[in-house]
Amino acid sequence: MHEIQLQEADSLWDSIITHVKEEREKTPHTKRNRYSLTGEKSYHSEDNLVQLDTEWSKQLKLLCYKATEDFAKMEKKPLLSIDQVFINCWCMIMGRGAYSIQHSHPGAIYSGVFWLQVPTEMPKDQGQFVVVDPRQGARLSMYNPEGFDVAPTRSHGLVFESWLEHLVQPHFIDGERISISWNVAF
Ligand SMILES: [Fe+2]
Repeated sequence: MHEIQLQEADSLWDSIITHVKEEREKTPHTKRNRYSLTGEKSYHSEDNLVQLDTEWSKQLKLLCYKATEDFAKMEKKPLLSIDQVFINCWCMIMGRGAYSIQHSHPGAIYSGVFWLQVPTEMPKDQGQFVVVDPRQGARLSMYNPEGFDVAPTRSHGLVFESWLEHLVQPHFIDGERISISWNVAF
């Protein structure tokens, strides 16, 4: 697993959030949840965010690829060039009480997440990104936490292998927690 902290992503994040909120308006409430995402106040966008014909979409594709490339290099794992891989990227908006059940990303090789917006004053034990310990036996030990918790902060991200199970805890204050995720397959 690889952690990333971006410096200058504000205008990219704004473009994504504007686009995704416009899409949400066009989507009936009953179709706003997909895959692992659950909750009345949540929205899972289409997974085409790096395939749109806009500057920000191209910029986002490069960002997802570069983050994945850093991870692959660090782990000495294979990765094809940006024109030879398939990247799917989507956004999740989680309002009060929304959460993501434990899951992995089948069909991909690498996956990642960036946090775009986190409600101010979200308690540290809420809205966490939890990586479940893949060593099943270790989950039973009282001296070993069940997983590895990452508190989401703006412009911070993670890249990991797609088989790694994870979940997102709900938060119970008002305000939207917004993230993007991507899969790389080749
Ligand atoms: Fe996920």
